[in-house]
Amino acid sequence: AEDGYRLWLRYDPIADQAVRTRYQAALKNVLMEGDSPTLVAAREELMEGLRGLLDTNVPFNPAVQDGTLLVGTLQTLAPVGELNLEKPLRQVGDEGYLIFTTKLKRRNVTVVAANTDVGVLYGCFHLLRLLQTHQPLQNLNLQETPKLDLRVLNHWDNLDRSVERGYAGASLWKWHLLPDYLDPRYREYARANASVGINGTVLNNVNANALILTEEFLPRVAALANVFRPYGIKVYLSARFSAPIEIGGLKTADPLDPQVQQWWKKKVDEIYGYIPDFGGFLVKANSEGQPGPQNYNRSHAEGANLLADALAPHGGVVMWRAFVYSNEEPEDRAKQAYNEFVPLDGKFRDNVLVQVKNGAIDFQPREPFHPLFGAMPNTPLMMEFQITQEYTGQSTNLFYQMPLYKETLDADTYAKGKGSTVAKVVDGTLEGHRLTGVAGVSNIGDDRNWTGHPFAQSNWYGYGRLAWDHALTSEQIADEWLRMTFSNDEAFVKPVSDMMIASREIVVDYMTPLGLHHLMGWSHHYGPGPWVTDKPRADWTATYYHQADSNGIGFDRTKTGSDALAQYFPPVQEQWGDPKTCPEEFLLWFHHLPWDYTTKSGRSLWDELCHRYYAGADSVAWMQDVWQQQKSKVDADRFQHVATLLDIQKKEAIWWRNACVLYFQQFSRRPIPDGLEKPD
Ligand code: GCU
Repeated sequence: AEDGYRLWLRYDPIADQAVRTRYQAALKNVLMEGDSPTLVAAREELMEGLRGLLDTNVPFNPAVQDGTLLVGTLQTLAPVGELNLEKPLRQVGDEGYLIFTTKLKRRNVTVVAANTDVGVLYGCFHLLRLLQTHQPLQNLNLQETPKLDLRVLNHWDNLDRSVERGYAGASLWKWHLLPDYLDPRYREYARANASVGINGTVLNNVNANALILTEEFLPRVAALANVFRPYGIKVYLSARFSAPIEIGGLKTADPLDPQVQQWWKKKVDEIYGYIPDFGGFLVKANSEGQPGPQNYNRSHAEGANLLADALAPHGGVVMWRAFVYSNEEPEDRAKQAYNEFVPLDGKFRDNVLVQVKNGAIDFQPREPFHPLFGAMPNTPLMMEFQITQEYTGQSTNLFYQMPLYKETLDADTYAKGKGSTVAKVVDGTLEGHRLTGVAGVSNIGDDRNWTGHPFAQSNWYGYGRLAWDHALTSEQIADEWLRMTFSNDEAFVKPVSDMMIASREIVVDYMTPLGLHHLMGWSHHYGPGPWVTDKPRADWTATYYHQADSNGIGFDRTKTGSDALAQYFPPVQEQWGDPKTCPEEFLLWFHHLPWDYTTKSGRSLWDELCHRYYAGADSVAWMQDVWQQQKSKVDADRFQHVATLLDIQKKEAIWWRNACVLYFQQFSRRPIPDGLEKPD
């Protein structure tokens, strides 16, 4: 049965005979020397991939002939003679690579070359991707360099193997069997990540248990690091700030206490004893009940620097999260991170990145970009996306996230004038940062297909691709992923890609149109709950976010309200501050407007809201149609799985629509517009 276990790394024989024959002629043998673990992994991948895709045994030998594939570094390729690699390789850095066709000894050859072994591995995966997506191999001249240094997955995995906000089974990490038993899946996980250039993984939840830092766990962490290392993946851990108390027996975790500093230094030395290339710590501090430096009246910078100083001698980094808000604070939650972090700009050590969620609330189907981007020019800001679908339909809704990621990355902060995009802040080019990175909260679990929803695999894949190159488009990534994962049939790829691209806006429409946000069911965030009011904290009630009353709806974040808009640069403030120029997708994020306010369509706000909810739910029926037409083009198992999930999504979209329209109708006291069927 086809269960999706192989993800996008499928090397079945290319069905199109003409394509296969061309590839067989272009790739007759492989010349590849070197026996480092990474080069061995690259060779195994190539062998398996070529044998499978070309359906023939491509020999690995040192012959140079027409159709030889040469793979290696400057050193390992040196014996074959003139390839003139020095200069072009200088352009691609430590992890980049070249793929090109050339003549060697008057033979037509293809070359995959890199400065490092991991660059070679990435190049091999790229070459296989070219074959999997049926790209031409003539006149290749590819030069690839990742735009970000740290391309990391954040697993919110607990030590008991439950996964916070995980919808694809239990954690992959079988702590009780480690370090002795190495589940073969660890290597498959590493392959999948390496195939898209993901080079780091934080193994445990940001709501951290300090036990991960003890000698009970560190040998197990080291065992995983050993499996991942050949694939270029570094291991990081979430560190609990109060660990010196909980596992160190100290009375305090005050970052300015010399004993505490000594404790972290020794702990970090111990970790590097187990894992010589340990990446560093991710920290959630003073947020949602987690301990942190503010417990001792110290700042986030003082907290981060404590760990940074312990890690610096080993080359480790701290990823300090800016997702902070406090329940005592009456301030608009959207403003709190900015208020706390901007004054600390420039106060962090060189090996600290501040990790900022894409938006200021919490991974909603749509949010304006976080105002911290562009506002801390002296601090490298690491982007945090949520791949797992906490607020976007969990594992039952098909929601392709690249349009969301791209919208954030392409947004203009105007920090240094027009063109100061979030992407340029994150990739360091706007402010000249050396250290750069992105984190994605993982959607991976031990389900056979890794991600629960078969299409959720595309979000893991796409996250990695964008982390490598944020200039790729959502369409390019969907196209690649579909070809690799399902089929190269154009009659399949085009409509299904269109469906994926549209899925984001569709989900926004039936959950939170026009800038509404956080209407999800309380705590579990599954399904609608705009009525939630009786919770212990204002910002945990959905009514706080939508502010619906008999006059209208929306959160006033202009000067007459919370003035969160003031945290953006003036051109953004100006555009978003006036409902007439504010993009409609953010309208109710920033404005409280009367029910009869006229929207761009000419409809009243109430009618427009209803239309969006209805259009969203109706569009899921369109997605069902698109999928039904693919029945003959994909395997029966995955076809059925996706079809059934779309049926569930349809029900849930109607649930969302009816719940929200009927709930808001109590305030608007207006009829459902003509032409829309009345919910019951
Ligand atoms: C969200 C999520 C929590 C998570 C938190 C975080 O609020 O619901 O489960 O711990 O984000 O990012 O730290």
